[in-house]
Amino acid sequence: MKPNIGLSDAQRKGVVEILNRLLADEVVLYIKTRNYHWNVEGPDFSETHKFFEAQYEELDEIMDDVAERARALGGRAAGSLAAYLKLTKLKEDDGKTVGEKAMIKDLLISHETIIQRLRKEVEIVGDKLGDVGTNDFITGLIEAHEKMAWMLRSYLA
Ligand SMILES: [Fe+2]
Repeated sequence: MKPNIGLSDAQRKGVVEILNRLLADEVVLYIKTRNYHWNVEGPDFSETHKFFEAQYEELDEIMDDVAERARALGGRAAGSLAAYLKLTKLKEDDGKTVGEKAMIKDLLISHETIIQRLRKEVEIVGDKLGDVGTNDFITGLIEAHEKMAWMLRSYLA
């Protein structure tokens, strides 16, 4: 059954596409953060290892919320690595990022890329597609990524 929630099929489809592109970015960033949790080396290993774990746990929840938001709008959530790699705008880690600082910097850039993109898309979702629910949801995600980015940035100070 189609959701009867006052949004047209085209509006819902437009929002679901944005959500699936975002989901792909969240998955790639999640994997990257886990990768660094596993492979980090350096004088602050224990601290950084745990810090990355806290961040990927937060990203895990965000991924779930984004996918379920797409479902709530009657769409299908992208669910394969092939689909994510096609949809994401982020670059996967090439295995050459070594050391705590380089890893933190790389994660920071990914968060900031997502924030910049969401800031544009939150307007499209609200104004053009008329979906105040997803507009509010994305606003919350911007804040969550800004907080994670702040923490990463603080390590580089
Ligand atoms: Fe672990």
